[in-house]
Amino acid sequence: MSTEAAGGGPGGYVAAIKGSQLGLKTACIEGRGTLGGTCLNVGCIPSKSLLHNSHLYHLASHEFKKRGIEVTGLSINLDQMLKQKEKSVKTLTGGIESLFKKNKTEYIKGWGTFKSANEIEVAGLDGTNRTVKAKNVIIATGSEPSGFPGITVDEESIVTSTGALSLKKVPEKMVVIGGGVIGLELGSVWSRLGAEVTVVEYMGAIGAGMDADLAKSFQKTLQKQGMKFKLGTKVISANKTADGKVEVVVEPAAGGAQETLVVDVVLLSIGRRPNTDNLGLEKIGVELDKRGRVVTNHEFKTNVPGILAIGDVITGPMLAHKAEEEGIAAAEYIAHGHGHVNYDAIPSVIYTHPEVAWVGKTEAEVKASGVEYKVGTFPFAANSRAKTIDDYDGLVKVISDAKTDRILGAHIIGPGAGEMIAEAVIAIEYGASSEDIARTTHAHPTLSEAFKEACMGTYDKPIHF
Ligand code: FAD
Ligand code: NAI
Repeated sequence: MSTEAAGGGPGGYVAAIKGSQLGLKTACIEGRGTLGGTCLNVGCIPSKSLLHNSHLYHLASHEFKKRGIEVTGLSINLDQMLKQKEKSVKTLTGGIESLFKKNKTEYIKGWGTFKSANEIEVAGLDGTNRTVKAKNVIIATGSEPSGFPGITVDEESIVTSTGALSLKKVPEKMVVIGGGVIGLELGSVWSRLGAEVTVVEYMGAIGAGMDADLAKSFQKTLQKQGMKFKLGTKVISANKTADGKVEVVVEPAAGGAQETLVVDVVLLSIGRRPNTDNLGLEKIGVELDKRGRVVTNHEFKTNVPGILAIGDVITGPMLAHKAEEEGIAAAEYIAHGHGHVNYDAIPSVIYTHPEVAWVGKTEAEVKASGVEYKVGTFPFAANSRAKTIDDYDGLVKVISDAKTDRILGAHIIGPGAGEMIAEAVIAIEYGASSEDIARTTHAHPTLSEAFKEACMGTYDKPIHF
Protein backbone atom coordinates (compact mmCIF):
# COMPACT_ATOMS: atom_id res chain seq x y z
CA MET A 1 0.00 0.00 0.00
CA SER A 2 1.31 3.50 -0.69
CA THR A 3 0.63 6.77 1.03
CA GLU A 4 1.40 10.37 0.15
CA ALA A 5 1.39 13.20 2.63
CA ALA A 6 0.75 16.50 0.87
CA GLY A 7 2.51 19.05 3.05
CA GLY A 8 5.71 18.55 5.04
CA GLY A 9 4.71 20.28 8.32
CA PRO A 10 4.33 18.60 11.72
CA GLY A 11 1.19 16.84 10.48
CA GLY A 12 2.52 15.67 7.11
CA TYR A 13 6.11 14.78 7.95
CA VAL A 14 5.09 12.86 11.07
CA ALA A 15 2.36 10.99 9.14
CA ALA A 16 4.91 10.16 6.43
CA ILE A 17 7.49 8.82 8.90
CA LYS A 18 4.85 6.83 10.79
CA GLY A 19 3.53 5.44 7.50
CA SER A 20 7.03 4.25 6.58
CA GLN A 21 7.54 2.76 10.04
CA LEU A 22 4.30 0.83 9.62
CA GLY A 23 5.52 -0.65 6.34
CA LEU A 24 3.70 1.60 3.88
CA LYS A 25 5.58 2.87 0.84
CA THR A 26 5.41 6.55 1.69
CA ALA A 27 6.33 9.88 0.15
CA CYS A 28 5.92 13.46 1.38
CA ILE A 29 5.32 16.31 -1.07
CA GLU A 30 6.48 19.74 0.14
CA GLY A 31 6.79 22.87 -1.94
CA ARG A 32 8.58 25.39 0.31
CA GLY A 33 12.00 23.84 -0.21
CA THR A 34 12.49 22.77 3.40
CA LEU A 35 10.62 20.34 5.63
CA GLY A 36 8.92 21.19 8.93
CA GLY A 37 6.12 23.40 7.62
CA THR A 38 4.99 26.58 9.32
CA CYS A 39 6.12 25.31 12.71
CA LEU A 40 9.79 24.79 11.99
CA ASN A 41 10.29 27.44 9.31
CA VAL A 42 8.19 30.43 10.36
CA GLY A 43 6.33 29.40 13.53
CA CYS A 44 7.04 27.50 16.73
CA ILE A 45 10.81 27.17 16.36
CA PRO A 46 11.99 30.63 15.22
CA SER A 47 9.53 32.32 17.59
CA LYS A 48 10.79 30.31 20.56
CA SER A 49 14.37 31.11 19.68
CA LEU A 50 13.59 34.84 19.69
CA LEU A 51 11.47 34.53 22.83
CA HIS A 52 14.32 32.81 24.66
CA ASN A 53 17.05 35.21 23.60
CA SER A 54 14.95 38.35 24.10
CA HIS A 55 14.10 37.03 27.57
CA LEU A 56 17.80 36.65 28.35
CA TYR A 57 18.35 40.26 27.24
CA HIS A 58 15.40 41.39 29.36
CA LEU A 59 16.87 39.56 32.38
CA ALA A 60 20.29 41.05 31.79
CA SER A 61 18.96 44.59 31.40
CA HIS A 62 16.22 44.56 34.07
CA GLU A 63 16.98 41.82 36.58
CA PHE A 64 20.65 40.97 36.77
CA LYS A 65 21.54 43.93 39.00
CA LYS A 66 19.16 42.95 41.78
CA ARG A 67 20.56 39.41 41.56
CA GLY A 68 24.09 40.67 42.15
CA ILE A 69 25.30 40.44 38.59
CA GLU A 70 26.76 43.63 37.21
CA VAL A 71 27.01 43.96 33.44
CA THR A 72 28.37 46.97 31.65
CA GLY A 73 28.07 47.81 27.97
CA LEU A 74 25.06 45.57 27.40
CA SER A 75 23.61 45.91 23.91
CA ILE A 76 21.60 44.01 21.34
CA ASN A 77 23.17 42.57 18.20
CA LEU A 78 19.93 41.89 16.31
CA ASP A 79 21.75 40.40 13.30
CA GLN A 80 23.38 37.82 15.53
CA MET A 81 20.09 37.07 17.32
CA LEU A 82 18.42 36.45 13.96
CA LYS A 83 21.35 34.29 12.83
CA GLN A 84 21.03 32.17 15.93
CA LYS A 85 17.32 31.77 15.21
CA GLU A 86 18.07 30.73 11.62
CA LYS A 87 20.64 28.21 12.84
CA SER A 88 18.03 26.50 15.05
CA VAL A 89 15.60 26.38 12.11
CA LYS A 90 18.21 24.98 9.72
CA THR A 91 19.37 22.29 12.13
CA LEU A 92 15.85 21.09 12.80
CA THR A 93 14.53 21.20 9.22
CA GLY A 94 17.67 19.37 8.08
CA GLY A 95 17.06 16.84 10.86
CA ILE A 96 13.74 15.88 9.30
CA GLU A 97 15.44 15.18 5.96
CA SER A 98 17.75 12.80 7.83
CA LEU A 99 14.76 11.14 9.49
CA PHE A 100 13.19 10.66 6.05
CA LYS A 101 16.36 8.95 4.82
CA LYS A 102 16.52 6.79 7.93
CA ASN A 103 12.90 5.70 7.51
CA LYS A 104 13.08 5.37 3.71
CA THR A 105 10.41 8.04 3.24
CA GLU A 106 10.59 9.68 -0.16
CA TYR A 107 10.81 13.49 -0.10
CA ILE A 108 9.24 15.03 -3.20
CA LYS A 109 10.16 18.70 -3.54
CA GLY A 110 7.38 20.58 -5.28
CA TRP A 111 3.81 21.84 -5.17
CA GLY A 112 1.10 19.20 -5.45
CA THR A 113 -2.36 19.42 -7.04
CA PHE A 114 -4.93 16.64 -7.26
CA LYS A 115 -5.35 15.33 -10.80
CA SER A 116 -7.72 12.62 -9.57
CA ALA A 117 -8.42 11.10 -6.16
CA ASN A 118 -5.27 8.97 -6.29
CA GLU A 119 -3.06 11.02 -8.59
CA ILE A 120 -1.17 14.15 -7.65
CA GLU A 121 0.53 16.34 -10.16
CA VAL A 122 3.71 17.82 -8.68
CA ALA A 123 5.27 20.97 -10.09
CA GLY A 124 8.83 20.22 -9.02
CA LEU A 125 11.03 22.92 -7.55
CA ASP A 126 13.67 21.85 -10.10
CA GLY A 127 11.29 22.79 -12.93
CA THR A 128 10.23 19.25 -13.82
CA ASN A 129 6.67 17.95 -13.45
CA ARG A 130 5.65 14.48 -12.40
CA THR A 131 2.48 12.62 -11.47
CA VAL A 132 2.53 10.62 -8.26
CA LYS A 133 0.01 7.81 -7.69
CA ALA A 134 -1.05 6.60 -4.25
CA LYS A 135 -3.77 4.46 -2.76
CA ASN A 136 -4.10 6.88 0.16
CA VAL A 137 -3.38 10.60 0.30
CA ILE A 138 -3.22 12.66 3.49
CA ILE A 139 -3.88 16.38 3.00
CA ALA A 140 -1.67 18.23 5.50
CA THR A 141 -1.29 21.58 3.80
CA GLY A 142 -1.61 23.62 6.99
CA SER A 143 -2.63 27.24 7.27
CA GLU A 144 -1.58 30.80 6.50
CA PRO A 145 -2.17 34.14 8.25
CA SER A 146 -5.67 35.59 7.83
CA GLY A 147 -5.74 38.89 5.98
CA PHE A 148 -7.56 42.05 7.01
CA PRO A 149 -9.68 43.76 4.35
CA GLY A 150 -7.96 46.94 3.18
CA ILE A 151 -4.64 46.28 4.96
CA THR A 152 -1.76 45.42 2.62
CA VAL A 153 0.95 43.30 4.15
CA ASP A 154 4.49 44.07 2.88
CA GLU A 155 6.29 41.97 5.55
CA GLU A 156 8.47 44.98 6.36
CA SER A 157 6.37 47.60 8.13
CA ILE A 158 2.98 45.85 7.93
CA VAL A 159 3.84 42.28 8.81
CA THR A 160 2.34 38.91 9.63
CA SER A 161 4.11 36.60 12.06
CA THR A 162 6.52 35.70 9.24
CA GLY A 163 7.81 39.28 8.86
CA ALA A 164 7.76 39.80 12.63
CA LEU A 165 10.32 36.99 12.98
CA SER A 166 12.84 38.87 10.83
CA LEU A 167 12.48 42.63 11.41
CA LYS A 168 15.70 44.34 10.36
CA LYS A 169 15.72 46.67 13.35
CA VAL A 170 13.87 47.05 16.62
CA PRO A 171 10.90 49.34 15.94
CA GLU A 172 10.42 52.31 18.22
CA LYS A 173 6.66 51.83 18.20
CA MET A 174 4.65 48.80 17.17
CA VAL A 175 0.94 48.02 17.01
CA VAL A 176 -0.17 44.41 17.28
CA ILE A 177 -3.62 43.74 15.83
CA GLY A 178 -5.06 40.76 17.75
CA GLY A 179 -4.21 39.86 21.34
CA GLY A 180 -4.04 36.11 20.72
CA VAL A 181 -1.11 33.74 20.91
CA ILE A 182 0.99 35.19 18.10
CA GLY A 183 0.37 38.81 19.10
CA LEU A 184 1.36 38.20 22.72
CA GLU A 185 4.43 36.05 21.96
CA LEU A 186 5.88 38.23 19.19
CA GLY A 187 4.67 41.43 20.87
CA SER A 188 6.69 40.30 23.92
CA VAL A 189 9.79 39.68 21.82
CA TRP A 190 9.90 43.20 20.39
CA SER A 191 8.76 44.82 23.64
CA ARG A 192 11.65 43.16 25.49
CA LEU A 193 14.06 44.36 22.82
CA GLY A 194 12.91 47.94 23.36
CA ALA A 195 9.82 48.61 21.21
CA GLU A 196 6.78 50.39 22.66
CA VAL A 197 4.12 47.78 21.87
CA THR A 198 0.36 48.42 21.87
CA VAL A 199 -1.95 45.44 21.43
CA VAL A 200 -5.34 46.22 19.87
CA GLU A 201 -7.84 43.45 20.62
CA TYR A 202 -11.45 43.32 19.50
CA MET A 203 -12.67 41.22 22.43
CA GLY A 204 -12.73 42.32 26.08
CA ALA A 205 -9.87 40.01 27.08
CA ILE A 206 -6.53 38.84 25.72
CA GLY A 207 -5.49 35.24 25.17
CA ALA A 208 -8.03 34.06 22.57
CA GLY A 209 -10.31 32.13 24.92
CA MET A 210 -8.03 31.21 27.83
CA ASP A 211 -9.49 30.95 31.36
CA ALA A 212 -10.72 34.41 32.41
CA ASP A 213 -8.75 34.50 35.70
CA LEU A 214 -5.55 33.70 33.86
CA ALA A 215 -6.24 36.22 31.11
CA LYS A 216 -6.58 39.01 33.70
CA SER A 217 -3.46 38.00 35.59
CA PHE A 218 -1.53 37.58 32.31
CA GLN A 219 -2.52 41.02 31.07
CA LYS A 220 -1.36 42.65 34.33
CA THR A 221 1.98 40.90 34.07
CA LEU A 222 2.52 41.97 30.46
CA GLN A 223 1.54 45.53 31.38
CA LYS A 224 4.17 45.51 34.13
CA GLN A 225 6.66 44.50 31.46
CA GLY A 226 5.68 47.57 29.43
CA MET A 227 3.12 46.32 26.92
CA LYS A 228 0.00 48.45 26.41
CA PHE A 229 -3.47 47.13 25.65
CA LYS A 230 -6.51 48.52 23.91
CA LEU A 231 -9.23 45.94 24.51
CA GLY A 232 -12.73 46.08 23.07
CA THR A 233 -11.21 48.03 20.20
CA LYS A 234 -11.47 47.53 16.47
CA VAL A 235 -9.05 48.50 13.75
CA ILE A 236 -10.49 50.57 10.94
CA SER A 237 -7.44 50.94 8.72
CA ALA A 238 -3.65 50.82 8.60
CA ASN A 239 -1.86 52.80 5.91
CA LYS A 240 1.76 53.59 5.21
CA THR A 241 2.72 57.26 5.14
CA ALA A 242 5.31 59.01 2.97
CA ASP A 243 7.85 59.07 5.81
CA GLY A 244 7.78 55.29 6.23
CA LYS A 245 5.49 55.19 9.26
CA VAL A 246 2.14 53.42 9.51
CA GLU A 247 -1.04 55.19 10.61
CA VAL A 248 -3.42 52.85 12.37
CA VAL A 249 -6.97 54.09 12.92
CA VAL A 250 -8.85 52.37 15.74
CA GLU A 251 -12.20 52.86 17.40
CA PRO A 252 -14.05 51.28 20.36
CA ALA A 253 -15.78 48.06 19.22
CA ALA A 254 -19.03 49.39 20.69
CA GLY A 255 -18.67 52.63 18.70
CA GLY A 256 -17.15 55.96 19.72
CA ALA A 257 -14.35 58.35 18.88
CA GLN A 258 -11.63 57.20 16.52
CA GLU A 259 -7.96 57.43 17.41
CA THR A 260 -4.91 57.35 15.15
CA LEU A 261 -1.75 55.58 16.27
CA VAL A 262 1.42 56.36 14.33
CA VAL A 263 3.91 53.52 14.51
CA ASP A 264 6.89 51.95 12.75
CA VAL A 265 5.58 48.41 12.46
CA VAL A 266 2.13 46.80 12.52
CA LEU A 267 1.82 43.08 13.25
CA LEU A 268 -1.35 41.54 11.89
CA SER A 269 -2.19 38.48 14.02
CA ILE A 270 -5.93 37.89 13.95
CA GLY A 271 -5.89 34.16 13.31
CA ARG A 272 -4.97 31.79 10.50
CA ARG A 273 -6.89 30.28 7.61
CA PRO A 274 -6.61 26.75 6.19
CA ASN A 275 -4.55 26.20 3.03
CA THR A 276 -7.06 24.64 0.66
CA ASP A 277 -6.70 26.89 -2.38
CA ASN A 278 -4.99 25.61 -5.55
CA LEU A 279 -5.09 21.98 -4.47
CA GLY A 280 -7.71 20.90 -6.98
CA LEU A 281 -10.04 19.82 -4.17
CA GLU A 282 -13.11 21.07 -6.04
CA LYS A 283 -12.14 18.86 -9.00
CA ILE A 284 -12.25 15.67 -6.93
CA GLY A 285 -15.16 16.79 -4.73
CA VAL A 286 -13.52 16.98 -1.27
CA GLU A 287 -16.00 18.63 1.11
CA LEU A 288 -14.98 21.84 2.90
CA ASP A 289 -16.78 23.56 5.78
CA LYS A 290 -17.86 27.22 5.86
CA ARG A 291 -14.41 28.29 7.06
CA GLY A 292 -12.67 26.47 4.22
CA ARG A 293 -11.44 23.57 6.37
CA VAL A 294 -11.45 20.01 5.03
CA VAL A 295 -14.29 18.02 6.61
CA THR A 296 -13.20 14.65 8.07
CA ASN A 297 -14.65 11.91 10.26
CA HIS A 298 -12.96 10.67 13.46
CA GLU A 299 -10.62 8.54 11.35
CA PHE A 300 -9.49 11.65 9.42
CA LYS A 301 -11.21 10.37 6.29
CA THR A 302 -12.78 12.90 3.95
CA ASN A 303 -15.89 12.20 1.89
CA VAL A 304 -13.64 10.98 -0.96
CA PRO A 305 -12.39 7.38 -0.45
CA GLY A 306 -8.62 7.18 0.04
CA ILE A 307 -8.22 10.87 0.95
CA LEU A 308 -7.58 11.87 4.56
CA ALA A 309 -6.77 15.25 6.12
CA ILE A 310 -5.01 16.33 9.33
CA GLY A 311 -3.54 19.33 11.15
CA ASP A 312 -4.33 23.01 10.67
CA VAL A 313 -6.30 22.27 7.50
CA ILE A 314 -9.05 20.50 9.51
CA THR A 315 -11.06 21.52 12.57
CA GLY A 316 -9.52 21.86 16.05
CA PRO A 317 -6.76 23.90 17.63
CA MET A 318 -4.04 25.02 15.22
CA LEU A 319 -1.17 23.48 17.14
CA ALA A 320 1.85 21.52 16.03
CA HIS A 321 1.42 18.75 18.62
CA LYS A 322 -2.23 18.32 17.62
CA ALA A 323 -1.15 17.99 13.96
CA GLU A 324 1.53 15.45 14.95
CA GLU A 325 -0.90 13.30 16.96
CA GLU A 326 -3.30 13.33 14.03
CA GLY A 327 -0.45 12.44 11.66
CA ILE A 328 0.39 9.33 13.66
CA ALA A 329 -3.26 8.33 14.06
CA ALA A 330 -4.03 8.85 10.35
CA ALA A 331 -1.09 6.63 9.31
CA GLU A 332 -2.26 4.01 11.80
CA TYR A 333 -5.83 4.11 10.48
CA ILE A 334 -4.45 3.54 6.96
CA ALA A 335 -2.07 0.76 8.00
CA HIS A 336 -4.17 -1.23 10.42
CA GLY A 337 -7.44 0.54 11.09
CA HIS A 338 -6.82 1.83 14.64
CA GLY A 339 -5.67 5.24 15.84
CA HIS A 340 -6.26 7.55 18.79
CA VAL A 341 -6.27 11.27 19.55
CA ASN A 342 -7.78 12.51 22.83
CA TYR A 343 -9.03 16.02 22.08
CA ASP A 344 -9.82 16.58 25.77
CA ALA A 345 -6.14 16.39 26.59
CA ILE A 346 -4.43 18.73 24.15
CA PRO A 347 -2.37 21.34 25.99
CA SER A 348 -1.94 24.96 24.93
CA VAL A 349 1.12 26.97 25.87
CA ILE A 350 1.97 30.62 25.36
CA TYR A 351 5.73 30.91 25.58
CA THR A 352 5.98 34.38 27.10
CA HIS A 353 7.55 35.00 30.49
CA PRO A 354 5.89 33.90 32.62
CA GLU A 355 4.52 31.13 30.43
CA VAL A 356 0.82 30.42 30.29
CA ALA A 357 -0.37 26.85 29.85
CA TRP A 358 -3.63 25.06 30.08
CA VAL A 359 -5.43 21.82 29.28
CA GLY A 360 -9.04 20.70 29.54
CA LYS A 361 -11.94 22.99 30.26
CA THR A 362 -11.90 26.61 31.43
CA GLU A 363 -14.02 27.49 34.45
CA ALA A 364 -16.57 29.19 32.18
CA GLU A 365 -16.85 26.02 30.06
CA VAL A 366 -17.32 23.79 33.13
CA LYS A 367 -19.96 26.18 34.48
CA ALA A 368 -21.77 26.16 31.15
CA SER A 369 -21.74 22.34 31.08
CA GLY A 370 -23.77 22.32 34.33
CA VAL A 371 -21.32 19.99 36.14
CA GLU A 372 -20.76 20.81 39.82
CA TYR A 373 -17.11 21.64 40.29
CA LYS A 374 -14.45 22.76 42.75
CA VAL A 375 -11.50 25.04 42.14
CA GLY A 376 -8.10 24.83 43.81
CA THR A 377 -5.59 27.60 43.31
CA PHE A 378 -2.03 28.09 44.45
CA PRO A 379 0.07 31.21 43.84
CA PHE A 380 3.73 30.86 42.87
CA ALA A 381 4.40 33.55 45.49
CA ALA A 382 3.87 30.75 48.06
CA ASN A 383 6.11 28.24 46.24
CA SER A 384 9.59 27.95 47.71
CA ARG A 385 11.43 27.37 44.41
CA ALA A 386 9.72 30.34 42.75
CA LYS A 387 10.76 32.50 45.71
CA THR A 388 14.29 31.13 45.61
CA ILE A 389 14.72 32.11 42.00
CA ASP A 390 12.80 35.36 42.58
CA ASP A 391 10.36 34.57 39.77
CA TYR A 392 6.96 34.14 41.31
CA ASP A 393 4.36 35.99 39.23
CA GLY A 394 1.37 33.75 38.57
CA LEU A 395 -0.68 30.87 39.89
CA VAL A 396 -1.94 27.35 39.29
CA LYS A 397 -5.69 26.80 39.02
CA VAL A 398 -7.13 23.29 39.00
CA ILE A 399 -10.80 22.58 38.33
CA SER A 400 -12.21 19.21 39.40
CA ASP A 401 -15.59 17.50 39.35
CA ALA A 402 -17.22 18.10 42.76
CA LYS A 403 -18.61 14.55 42.91
CA THR A 404 -15.81 12.43 41.47
CA ASP A 405 -12.85 14.81 42.01
CA ARG A 406 -11.73 14.01 38.46
CA ILE A 407 -9.59 16.81 37.01
CA LEU A 408 -11.53 18.70 34.34
CA GLY A 409 -9.09 21.51 33.60
CA ALA A 410 -5.76 22.91 34.70
CA HIS A 411 -4.59 26.46 34.06
CA ILE A 412 -1.14 27.72 34.91
CA ILE A 413 0.56 31.07 34.60
CA GLY A 414 4.07 31.10 35.94
CA PRO A 415 7.66 30.10 35.37
CA GLY A 416 7.95 26.72 33.65
CA ALA A 417 4.18 26.44 33.05
CA GLY A 418 4.78 24.92 29.59
CA GLU A 419 6.67 21.98 31.09
CA MET A 420 4.46 21.64 34.16
CA ILE A 421 1.29 21.31 32.09
CA ALA A 422 2.44 17.84 30.98
CA GLU A 423 1.56 16.64 34.48
CA ALA A 424 -2.01 17.85 34.05
CA VAL A 425 -2.23 16.34 30.56
CA ILE A 426 -1.24 12.92 31.91
CA ALA A 427 -3.71 13.34 34.77
CA ILE A 428 -6.57 14.07 32.36
CA GLU A 429 -5.49 11.33 29.93
CA TYR A 430 -5.59 8.77 32.75
CA GLY A 431 -8.72 10.17 34.43
CA ALA A 432 -6.87 11.08 37.63
CA SER A 433 -8.58 12.80 40.55
CA SER A 434 -6.99 15.89 42.04
CA GLU A 435 -6.41 13.84 45.22
CA ASP A 436 -4.37 11.34 43.15
CA ILE A 437 -2.01 14.19 42.24
CA ALA A 438 -2.03 15.74 45.70
CA ARG A 439 -1.02 12.41 47.27
CA THR A 440 1.82 11.92 44.77
CA THR A 441 5.22 12.97 46.11
CA HIS A 442 6.65 15.95 44.25
CA ALA A 443 10.34 16.77 44.70
CA HIS A 444 11.23 19.74 46.89
CA PRO A 445 11.97 22.51 46.09
CA THR A 446 10.35 22.42 42.63
CA LEU A 447 7.86 24.62 40.84
CA SER A 448 5.64 21.59 40.30
CA GLU A 449 4.86 21.52 44.02
CA ALA A 450 2.56 24.45 43.18
CA PHE A 451 0.56 22.08 40.98
CA LYS A 452 0.30 19.51 43.76
CA GLU A 453 -0.83 22.17 46.25
CA ALA A 454 -3.46 23.56 43.85
CA CYS A 455 -4.80 19.99 43.62
CA MET A 456 -4.89 19.83 47.43
CA GLY A 457 -6.98 22.98 47.29
CA THR A 458 -9.83 21.37 45.35
CA TYR A 459 -10.87 18.80 47.97
CA ASP A 460 -9.00 20.00 51.07
CA LYS A 461 -6.54 22.81 51.83
CA PRO A 462 -3.04 23.49 50.55
CA ILE A 463 -0.36 23.51 53.25
CA HIS A 464 1.66 26.54 52.22
CA PHE A 465 -1.07 29.03 51.40
P1 FAD B 1 1.95 23.44 8.35
O1 FAD B 1 3.00 23.42 9.40
O2 FAD B 1 1.40 24.75 7.95
O3 FAD B 1 2.58 22.69 7.10
C1 FAD B 1 1.94 22.60 5.89
C2 FAD B 1 2.99 22.50 4.80
O4 FAD B 1 2.33 22.17 3.59
C3 FAD B 1 3.71 23.80 4.53
O5 FAD B 1 5.11 23.63 4.65
C4 FAD B 1 3.33 24.17 3.10
O6 FAD B 1 4.41 24.73 2.37
C5 FAD B 1 2.98 22.80 2.53
N1 FAD B 1 2.04 22.87 1.41
C6 FAD B 1 0.87 23.56 1.34
N2 FAD B 1 0.26 23.33 0.16
C7 FAD B 1 1.05 22.48 -0.53
C8 FAD B 1 0.97 21.87 -1.79
N3 FAD B 1 -0.05 22.11 -2.60
N4 FAD B 1 1.98 21.06 -2.18
C9 FAD B 1 3.04 20.82 -1.38
N5 FAD B 1 3.18 21.37 -0.16
C10 FAD B 1 2.18 22.17 0.27
N6 FAD B 1 2.08 25.53 17.43
C11 FAD B 1 2.49 24.93 18.56
O7 FAD B 1 2.01 23.84 18.89
N7 FAD B 1 3.43 25.51 19.37
C12 FAD B 1 3.98 26.70 19.08
O8 FAD B 1 4.83 27.19 19.83
C13 FAD B 1 3.57 27.36 17.90
N8 FAD B 1 4.09 28.55 17.56
C14 FAD B 1 3.70 29.15 16.40
C15 FAD B 1 4.24 30.40 16.10
C16 FAD B 1 3.86 31.04 14.95
C17 FAD B 1 4.45 32.39 14.63
C18 FAD B 1 2.94 30.42 14.06
C19 FAD B 1 2.54 31.09 12.79
C20 FAD B 1 2.39 29.20 14.36
C21 FAD B 1 2.76 28.55 15.54
N9 FAD B 1 2.22 27.33 15.91
C22 FAD B 1 2.61 26.72 17.08
C23 FAD B 1 1.22 26.65 15.07
C24 FAD B 1 1.90 25.54 14.25
O9 FAD B 1 2.93 26.10 13.47
C25 FAD B 1 0.88 24.85 13.37
O10 FAD B 1 -0.22 24.42 14.13
C26 FAD B 1 1.49 23.65 12.68
O11 FAD B 1 2.59 24.03 11.91
C27 FAD B 1 0.45 22.95 11.80
O12 FAD B 1 1.03 21.87 11.17
P2 FAD B 1 0.49 21.34 9.76
O13 FAD B 1 1.38 20.20 9.40
O14 FAD B 1 -0.95 21.10 9.82
O15 FAD B 1 0.69 22.54 8.74
P1 NAI C 1 -5.53 33.69 17.73
O1 NAI C 1 -6.78 33.05 17.33
O2 NAI C 1 -4.72 33.11 18.83
O3 NAI C 1 -5.81 35.18 18.18
C1 NAI C 1 -6.38 36.13 17.32
C2 NAI C 1 -6.89 37.28 18.17
O4 NAI C 1 -7.22 38.33 17.30
C3 NAI C 1 -8.13 36.93 18.97
O5 NAI C 1 -7.95 37.35 20.30
C4 NAI C 1 -9.23 37.71 18.26
O6 NAI C 1 -10.25 38.12 19.13
C5 NAI C 1 -8.45 38.89 17.72
N1 NAI C 1 -9.05 39.52 16.57
C6 NAI C 1 -9.67 38.92 15.52
N2 NAI C 1 -10.08 39.84 14.63
C7 NAI C 1 -9.70 41.05 15.11
C8 NAI C 1 -9.82 42.38 14.65
N3 NAI C 1 -10.40 42.65 13.51
N4 NAI C 1 -9.31 43.38 15.41
C9 NAI C 1 -8.70 43.11 16.58
N5 NAI C 1 -8.56 41.86 17.08
C10 NAI C 1 -9.04 40.84 16.34
O7 NAI C 1 -4.67 33.83 16.39
P2 NAI C 1 -3.15 34.14 16.15
O8 NAI C 1 -2.55 34.81 17.34
O9 NAI C 1 -3.07 34.79 14.83
O10 NAI C 1 -2.53 32.69 16.05
C11 NAI C 1 -2.98 31.78 15.05
C12 NAI C 1 -2.83 30.37 15.49
O11 NAI C 1 -1.46 30.01 15.61
C13 NAI C 1 -3.48 30.13 16.82
O12 NAI C 1 -4.62 29.33 16.59
C14 NAI C 1 -2.49 29.38 17.63
O13 NAI C 1 -3.00 28.15 18.05
C15 NAI C 1 -1.29 29.15 16.72
N6 NAI C 1 -0.10 29.56 17.47
C16 NAI C 1 0.26 28.82 18.55
C17 NAI C 1 1.32 29.19 19.34
C18 NAI C 1 1.63 28.39 20.54
O14 NAI C 1 1.14 27.29 20.66
N7 NAI C 1 2.44 28.90 21.47
C19 NAI C 1 2.12 30.37 19.04
C20 NAI C 1 1.62 31.10 17.89
C21 NAI C 1 0.58 30.68 17.14
